[in-house]
Amino acid sequence: MPPLVDSAALSGLALFAIVLTFASALPPPAPTLTFASLIAPAPPLRHDACAVWIAAPHTPCFDLTDTPCAPDTMPPALTDAFSMGGAVDTSHSMVIDDTMGGKGSRYGASEESVTALALAASARHARLAAAAAAAGSYHALAASLSATGFHDRKDLLRIALLAVNASRPGGLAALAPAAVFGSMSPWIEAELLALGLDAVTTVEYNTLNYRATSITTLTPDQLATNIADGTHTPFGLAISLSSFDHDGLGRYGDPLSPSADLDIMAALADCILAPHGVLVVSVPVGSDQLVWNMHRRYGPARLPSLLAPFLPALDPSPLIPLVDASSVLGWDSDARLSQDRPFTSSYEPVFILSPLDQAPLHTDREL
Ligand SMILES: *[C@@H]1O[C@H](CO)[C@@H](O)[C@H](O)[C@H]1NC(C)=O
Repeated sequence: MPPLVDSAALSGLALFAIVLTFASALPPPAPTLTFASLIAPAPPLRHDACAVWIAAPHTPCFDLTDTPCAPDTMPPALTDAFSMGGAVDTSHSMVIDDTMGGKGSRYGASEESVTALALAASARHARLAAAAAAAGSYHALAASLSATGFHDRKDLLRIALLAVNASRPGGLAALAPAAVFGSMSPWIEAELLALGLDAVTTVEYNTLNYRATSITTLTPDQLATNIADGTHTPFGLAISLSSFDHDGLGRYGDPLSPSADLDIMAALADCILAPHGVLVVSVPVGSDQLVWNMHRRYGPARLPSLLAPFLPALDPSPLIPLVDASSVLGWDSDARLSQDRPFTSSYEPVFILSPLDQAPLHTDREL
C-alpha cells in the first residue's frame, strides 16, 4: 500500500478561529477512549488461541474463476461477523494481489539488494539515534515527526526498533530469533539485520524469492505445521506493519475469516512469540471501518480486541536513556479513534507490545 499522506488541511490559526466561532454550538464531547484504557489488561476469556490458529485454514487460494476465493463483495453469511454486528462501518475497494495470473504474487530480492538495504538502514539508524538524543527521547522524536504529517512512515518503525534495542540488555540481538509478518520487499528484514540480528524469518502468504542467506521464508501454513509438530522456536521479536489488518479478506489469497486478524494476534501472544517476546505492530487507526477487501481500520469497536492479548513492552526506567513510558509511537491523539475520515487517509501508529505474561489469554472471538 503506498503511503498516503494524512495531514491537517487547516492551519493552526484557521482551526483556532473556527473553534472560537463554533465552540458554543458544539455538542458535549463523547467520552474519550484513551490509549491507556485500550491497553489495560482485559479479563481472561480463552486459553486456546494457539490451537484455534493452527486449526484454521491458511492455504492461500487464487482460484478466481470457478469458486472465487476472493469474492468482490462481502459474503452475506459473513457480513454480520465482519462488521461486528454493524459496529464497523463497511465500504468497498477491491484489490487482488495476483500478479502471477491465478497463483498469487511473487516478490524477490537478491543477496546484494538486502545487503544494500541493511547498509542504508545502519546510516539511517545513526541519524535517528542522534536526532532522538537531541529531542530528548525516541518518543519525542516520533512525536515531532508525526506532527509534521509528512514524515517517512518507515522512520516510525525504525524509531520503535531503536527504542526496543535501547530498552533490552544486549539490544535487539538478544531477542533472536526474529520474524517479520507480511513482506513484499525485505526492507524490515534489513532493518533487523542492521541492528545486529544474524537471521530473520519472514512469514508471508505470497511466494517470496528472497535470495539472502540471512532470511528464511515461511508461509502461514508452514508456521502452523511447525507449531503443531513442536519444531517452532518461539520468536523473541516479531514485526508486522500494515499486514494483520488485511488478514481474512482474501486480498492475498488468504482464506476468508472475519476473525483472522484477532486470531493471529492471540496466537502470537500464546505460542508464536516467546513469553517475554516483543511485538512491534502497526494497523490503520481511526473510526472502525472494513473496506472490502482492502483492509480494516481499527477504532473503539475493534482495536481493544486486537490489543487484548498484549501489554506495553517498554518499561520506563531512569536507567535507560531515551526510552520513555510510551509503548506506542506516532499516536498523535486519542480523538483519532472516533474521527470520521475517508478510508484512504492513512494513520498508523506503531505499538510495542509483549504477551500478557503468564496470564490466561483474552480474545474476544464472539464479537
Ligand atoms: C543497539 O543495542 C546495542 C546493544 O546495547 C548497542 O551496542 C547498539 O549501539 C545499539 N544500536 C543502535 C543503532 O543504537
